[in-house]
Amino acid sequence: MAKRAYIETYGCQMNVNDTEVIFAILADAGYERAEKMEEADLIMANTCSIRDNAEQRIWGRLEVFSAQRKARPGVLVGIVGCMAERLKDKLLDTGKVDLVVGPDAYRSLPRLLEAVSPSSPQIDVLLSREETYADITPVRTDRNGISAFISIMRGCNNVCSYCVVPYTRGAERSRDAHSIVREACDVYSRGYKEVTLLGQNVDSYLWKGPGETVNFARLLEMVAAVAPDLRVRFATSHPKDISDEVIHTMAVHPNICRHIHLPVQSGSTRMLELMRRKYSREWYLERVAKIREVMPDCGLTTDVIAGFCSETEEDHLETLSLMEAVGFDWAFMFAYSDRPGTLANRTMKDDVPTEVKNRRLQEIIDLQNRKSLERYKAMIGRQVQVLVEGPSKRDPAQLCGRASNNMMCVFPAAGLKPGDFTTVTVQDATSATLICR
Ligand code: 5AD
Ligand code: SF4
Repeated sequence: MAKRAYIETYGCQMNVNDTEVIFAILADAGYERAEKMEEADLIMANTCSIRDNAEQRIWGRLEVFSAQRKARPGVLVGIVGCMAERLKDKLLDTGKVDLVVGPDAYRSLPRLLEAVSPSSPQIDVLLSREETYADITPVRTDRNGISAFISIMRGCNNVCSYCVVPYTRGAERSRDAHSIVREACDVYSRGYKEVTLLGQNVDSYLWKGPGETVNFARLLEMVAAVAPDLRVRFATSHPKDISDEVIHTMAVHPNICRHIHLPVQSGSTRMLELMRRKYSREWYLERVAKIREVMPDCGLTTDVIAGFCSETEEDHLETLSLMEAVGFDWAFMFAYSDRPGTLANRTMKDDVPTEVKNRRLQEIIDLQNRKSLERYKAMIGRQVQVLVEGPSKRDPAQLCGRASNNMMCVFPAAGLKPGDFTTVTVQDATSATLICR
């Protein structure tokens, strides 16, 4: 009988896609996917190290996995992903883990599974300059069969001073453009209607093949050409790298969605310098102005960090004023978390007291909630095209789906089914949903 693997995924969408790659690799080693931990021979967490609380959650899950391992001898527990890369043998030292595998070492899972035994746990955390898993067809784990994520690059070459990612995911490398297009064709032929191209910094995508060089704008064009009714999304853009060429490419292809996730992190140029973001407040505002000039209806979302090293009240007010000026549709907002090994951790003091960080974060959240409501309400009366994803969570009699600008819409079912495109009129709005007819 086939063995079964259960994987919990934490962190970003790239990790969701990595889990799909892992399932594909495990299938070659004779493992099927288990929906429940209690049914699995192999229990894994694909982990995130971005903030301390992300790691704390995983330590908690490890206790739960460990109980399974005790109750059912022979069950294996694995920690894979960013936390595996960061903590390495510290995880094995707990005696609760059989496998520790970093983001570039998933291909060695079958070999490690052959070799593993209670007395010899296995570890592979080698980072690679080449690995992109280009030839592996991910086992899709999304439930709707409508929207697929495709990794176009791995790793990161920016060294933002707060960020652990360059250490956990290694150097940046771009995946073969043709393998990306093939994957998009493959999911389209299986009924998917949307692909999201994923990378830490998609604007620095650059693939060189025999006699050709493909940058991100060109890649967008190639994927958009797969089919006119295949929507194309992407994340994440970097303000220092997003080019006019990319903005114009979006504008001329109706199936490239009008949404850019453009993390600002702070509205203070002094903070941005300390964060090593390589752009200023003015540069960021200019990029936003350019996007809106070319695509006035483009959705904009961002990430913000409150209370980075040495942040003053003035710096914080600059973040608020930038958010006020831009009017993001939505934001992911975090209190700064000191990560061992980063530049900030080694050379700066995490000197903003927790209460101050939390108070500033709350002010940022309150402002953003107000702005989100404004942005969503401004859509009332407008018509938007949505891709039907499935029943609405609140009211199963209604359907939900996203507009091109990434706003979530709910609307009456009216004979529609997941995967259909439809045009709806916005009648009302909350700060996170457009209520449509
Ligand atoms: N503390 C808080 N937030 C962080 N992020 C990255 N590193 C940290 C950290 N050390 C946030 C950034 C990034 C998002 C993915 O996570 O806003 O864009
Ligand atoms: Fe994703 Fe970053 Fe978390 Fe790794 S640390 S899983 S790259 S968010």
